[in-house]
Amino acid sequence: MPSVVWFIAVACGHISFWIVIFNVVHATPFPCRVVRVLERVCIAIAVAPLVVSPWISRMFAEVLPPPPLGVLAVLAYAELARRICFWIARRFVDDRPAEFEVVARDRTADYVGEGKLIRLLSPIPGNQSDRIEANRKTLQLDRWSDGWGDLSIVHASDLHLSGRIARPFYEMVVARTMALRGDVIIISGDIVESQSCVAWVRETLGQLSAPLGVYYLLGNHDVRMRPTEELRELLDSIGWIDVGGKTVEVDQGPAPFVIFGNERPWFPDLPSPPDPDDRLRIGVVHTPDQHRWAMREHADLILAGHTHGGQIRIPILGPLICPSLYDVWFASGVFQRGGATMHVSRGVAAFHPIRLWCSPEVTRIELCRRGAT
Ligand SMILES: [Fe+2]
Repeated sequence: MPSVVWFIAVACGHISFWIVIFNVVHATPFPCRVVRVLERVCIAIAVAPLVVSPWISRMFAEVLPPPPLGVLAVLAYAELARRICFWIARRFVDDRPAEFEVVARDRTADYVGEGKLIRLLSPIPGNQSDRIEANRKTLQLDRWSDGWGDLSIVHASDLHLSGRIARPFYEMVVARTMALRGDVIIISGDIVESQSCVAWVRETLGQLSAPLGVYYLLGNHDVRMRPTEELRELLDSIGWIDVGGKTVEVDQGPAPFVIFGNERPWFPDLPSPPDPDDRLRIGVVHTPDQHRWAMREHADLILAGHTHGGQIRIPILGPLICPSLYDVWFASGVFQRGGATMHVSRGVAAFHPIRLWCSPEVTRIELCRRGAT
């Protein structure tokens, strides 16, 4: 094989390794400024081979036999092999919804808000930040009680009210979320991140309601709204119920349930849910990295966000960037972990308003006994 092929392999393995580090950096609770510095370091080291590889490969082709076999080169080959195995496994190993249906796809041209970034990113072909997909998924649960009826849960996440995406977009999302007619609405964090949007929270998010309540917790971007107690007061004032570090027990409706939330690693408090009984247990986390905690608390259903589906999904390969300790494994979808079924939403928006081939979503979740469909 020509040496240039080997050098491309080395460069890909090297970039893949630094993408893993980049993803891990974004999964930490470090302050924003520290994360920004570390991400620039990762990007600089990752792209360096793209700059020098053509020159090096020409030089090696002339003076050394291919392939390069230094320690770093072998590590890069190993990382590339790991990445390829990872992609293949991700396609085949984890669960899919037992049933899936796209209920509606809406888009609005009136979504460009304030700032240079949105004006820069919105014209990029493939950017799907202007739309919302409303879908319906049936998830299978390992534990099932005959007393559980048809409880429907609408899951939305990562609304990111920053002003970059304009108010008409959120009015569209709220209307579509309400049209899914859930018994319960659950929002798994990253809700408001700019004071400039506080004025229109009541007229947009305040229009969400459900017979058994709208529940929420906060995420890493909500930390920008210091003091976050004021944000919680605002969301409480529009009728939402805070489950961040708390447990709420609902003994009415088609299936009595216990809901408990974990905002770690950005907020320290953990809830103390009661021991398992015949009620459905719903664990809400901002990051899917916390799924092991929810499993220890015997959650039947785990709802998470934070990862935005990866935001940039390369055709065939899928996502590359994902703020998680597990790289892109939990970018979005349905996962079976122990006795728990986890739904990771692609979310509604993002701090950086770019979503290449990665449409925002709101999901109506229906539940059934494993093996029933
Ligand atoms: Fe987010």
